[in-house]
Amino acid sequence: MKVNANKLFEKAYGSFCIPAINISNPEQVHGLFATAQKMEAPIIVQTTPAAREYAHPLMLLSYINAAAQLYPDVVYAVHVDHGYEAHIYDAINSNEYTSVMIDASHDTLEKNIERTKAIVSLAHSKDISVEAELGVLSGKEDDIDINDENALYTDPAEVEYFVKQTHCDCLAVAVGTSHGVYKFSGGRGLRFDLLEDIQRRVPNFPIVLHGASTIDQNEVSRINAAGGGLQDNAKGITEAEIKKAITHGVCKLNIATDLRLLWTRIFREYFRDHNGEWDHLIPGKQYMEELEVLLAKKFELLGNAGKA
Ligand code: G3H
Ligand code: 13P
Ligand code: NA
Ligand code: ZN
Repeated sequence: MKVNANKLFEKAYGSFCIPAINISNPEQVHGLFATAQKMEAPIIVQTTPAAREYAHPLMLLSYINAAAQLYPDVVYAVHVDHGYEAHIYDAINSNEYTSVMIDASHDTLEKNIERTKAIVSLAHSKDISVEAELGVLSGKEDDIDINDENALYTDPAEVEYFVKQTHCDCLAVAVGTSHGVYKFSGGRGLRFDLLEDIQRRVPNFPIVLHGASTIDQNEVSRINAAGGGLQDNAKGITEAEIKKAITHGVCKLNIATDLRLLWTRIFREYFRDHNGEWDHLIPGKQYMEELEVLLAKKFELLGNAGKA
């Protein structure tokens, strides 16, 4: 059943967390829905502008709708990740998305509020929930490259004002994570002091953590053993940090890179070990199977298993 993301957050707040999984190909959509059905786990399936560019929005929506037919018990929201106005209007007009993110976090506070408010008023008139972002994550985010030095943590003092002004439904905050494979390169972990302060200012309001891949060190080693060339500081958020973040109001965890690392490891190893082989269907099938294992572990950790 496709639902507004707010429905998922209401149930989750304070006790578990909804995984928001970035998808760009049918293998990922299939693996995600198969696992969600098996584990009775509510999910958010989300597309970035880059993914929509890669596969075409119609393709992505077709995969999702097909998966929802194959796995009819899955409770899910379909979300625009890191959207700008053009993607959001397009997504809303498709009548397929139940949630959108307006990422105006690179603007000034007032401009961010103005752009977010406009999206909220349109989206809410169509029963679509809205995620906004306050603060800037370091690392790689689509075409935007932000150096660690310039990372702008969310200012907890601004959060209450922002939420009151915009009426957004959930808020992505910058509390130390970053997108991609190199997180916490400065050695800092998640800023629980900021998360706690934010929760104090907006109690019961759903918080979103981007850049929430764990970057399995075993995968990094295997990728490198197969010629991957990833650097030593390929690191992610820890499982303990995730568990603690959930108790501080984090209801949505965005995960993309962990799925990509799995793909990279499987394809690198497969073609290294099968000289002369040229068919992607064999490693592609292995990817779907191993993705189910990866996601099942995530769902156990996040606590959404059995909550559909
Ligand atoms: O922010 C989300 C992803 O990590 C970036 O994914 O390359 O599909 O934009 P993308
Ligand atoms: P990761 O790069 O840690 O998977 O984060 C993904 C994300 O935040 C998508 O919006
Ligand atoms: Na998002
Ligand atoms: Zn993100």
